[in-house]
Amino acid sequence: MSHLRLGVNIDHVATVRNARGESYPDPVRAAEAALAAGADGITAHLREDRRHISDADIDALADITRKRGRPLNLEMAVTAEMEAIALAHRPHAACLVPERREEVTTEGGLDVVGGLERIAPLVGRLAAAGIRVSCFIDADLAQVAAAKAAGAAVVEFHTGAYCEAVRHRSPEAARLLEQVKAAAREAQRLGLEVHAGHGIDYETVKPIAAIPEVVELNIGHFLIGEAIFIGLGPAIQRMRALMDDARAAARAA
Ligand code: PXP
Repeated sequence: MSHLRLGVNIDHVATVRNARGESYPDPVRAAEAALAAGADGITAHLREDRRHISDADIDALADITRKRGRPLNLEMAVTAEMEAIALAHRPHAACLVPERREEVTTEGGLDVVGGLERIAPLVGRLAAAGIRVSCFIDADLAQVAAAKAAGAAVVEFHTGAYCEAVRHRSPEAARLLEQVKAAAREAQRLGLEVHAGHGIDYETVKPIAAIPEVVELNIGHFLIGEAIFIGLGPAIQRMRALMDDARAAARAA
């Protein structure tokens, strides 16, 4: 079972900054702190409506991650505007996500099955620029097959439904986790690298980190919330420790 990487999503530092239209708190400073605390990489979503991360943030994040030799994972909608930005920065990775302006957060996975004709050429152009492309999808076998057909190197499974079920103590949680596990097995069988993210907290990180095929988690909102109480560095270190413990326990089982 390989090392499990932690990508820290700093979008919601920018959400707080933008609530006041001020220059602080600075998501770039948060990215520096996250890397210093043991994050393997930084994830940021430049939304079409720029509600949190701005173009200038992406410029600065690309700069500091390059200087530190750490990966930047740019979450982006499947649009010509975002493609041009990705190609201008050539981040280590780009994660294709669905985007609807009225949503509060990314509510479900990208429909790669339905959008294959548009998505496959985009994946090809980004990959040709040296960007590792991931599709953020629901844990659904048809979507996994479509991501493979689109030429993606990576799939990131949307864990939001599972995490929400756990938080609400819903009996659906076990079934939703099994879906993620089955989709992860299928993705690995097809030669795709497997990531997971959305809604993960200290509780849900454990079963997700124990899935042997998963090699990267992208976690944001919970960590930024915890940072209010214990600081960003300690929140990341605690998450990191829980990931490592769950991985070690799964290895020993
Ligand atoms: N992965 C992807 C593709 C996302 O869109 C998000 C949310 O921006 C995350 C991970 C992180 O989710 P959360 O902020 O709920 O931890």
